[in-house]
Amino acid sequence: GKDGYRHYMEKELHEHPLVIGQTLQRMIDPATRKVVLPEMPFDLASLPRAVITACGSAFFAGVVGRYWLEEIARLPVDIDVASEMRYRNPPLTPGSLGILISQSGETADTLAAMRGLKNAGLPILSVLNAEHSSMARESDVVLGTVAGPEISVASTKAFTAQLTVLACLTIAIARARGELDETGEEELVSALLDLPSRAAEVFTHDDAIRKMASVVAEARDVLYLGRGSAYPVAMEGALKLKEISYIHAEAYAAGEMKHGPISLIDRTVPIVATVPSGVLFDKTLSNLQEAKARGGRLLAFTDEAGADRLSAIAEQTIALPKVHPFVTPIIQTIGVQMLAYETALLKGTDVDQPRNLAKSVTVE
Ligand code: M6R
Repeated sequence: GKDGYRHYMEKELHEHPLVIGQTLQRMIDPATRKVVLPEMPFDLASLPRAVITACGSAFFAGVVGRYWLEEIARLPVDIDVASEMRYRNPPLTPGSLGILISQSGETADTLAAMRGLKNAGLPILSVLNAEHSSMARESDVVLGTVAGPEISVASTKAFTAQLTVLACLTIAIARARGELDETGEEELVSALLDLPSRAAEVFTHDDAIRKMASVVAEARDVLYLGRGSAYPVAMEGALKLKEISYIHAEAYAAGEMKHGPISLIDRTVPIVATVPSGVLFDKTLSNLQEAKARGGRLLAFTDEAGADRLSAIAEQTIALPKVHPFVTPIIQTIGVQMLAYETALLKGTDVDQPRNLAKSVTVE
């Protein structure tokens, strides 16, 4: 049941802290505070590249994973949505690792793309919530997201669990490749272990998120902006808004705005910005200043360290808990998913069963 929540989506949103914690318990040894992965039939140290494929939200989790694997593990990554990957026939570097991400383990395009990578000789590592699924049976290694059943068509907790697994995988690959020493690993593991309690604090912002939703609910179009690993969070926020509130939303890499979409900006197109403090903060802020100068209404998700400077330019600013920069996409995700949920409530849509959508897309 819904345990007293109005919708499964609301219940599942509130399960973020629990699910992140359960997933970490599977992947981190509490005694050594080290990431421990199951036995792998390939050597993590000698992978030349990784090829990631998935659909929808799972694809956005993969995009965050790409930023992590490239930056922290220094592993070259190719990524595409499975519906493209399955027909691209890309030249594959022998020995590369195929990584798929799926909540259901049954998505037709992801399964087909997986079979393509497998037939080309790549070992397959799957990040799956359904551990008894078609993808699980055909993978060489399964890393389980311990999210429990997800009923709402809009994915919430499965997405943050996917990010949690990809973060641990990044640490393991980085260590194997000699890119992360003991201190480095301890720092990243601490950041992950800190997440369940920080994630729970996001819900204390529900009033502020509802206030933001009242602006979004009035709009016909919404622009989501972010840079670096906050860019796929913007994509996730935009998809979730479209999916359940039927408001048109588009995510853009903040730096791309002046190459086109800035022409859309006026008072009627709110801008939801995901801007954690960190190396890309100033760059994103200057993109937002440009948008504001053209009459844009800024609604910003930042953290305690970024709040002062953002509130100087944004109409509404939400200061999410300050976490290590590595894990900011996980915290920011909860904020944008809650915004979509609150907006859908205001629109009165069928949150758990949005029109035209199925939980699991088992046809092409
Ligand atoms: O079961 P999967 O993770 O393979 O599903 C992939 C997408 O269909 C899914 O994430 C979809 O985009 C969600 N409805 C997003 O909320």
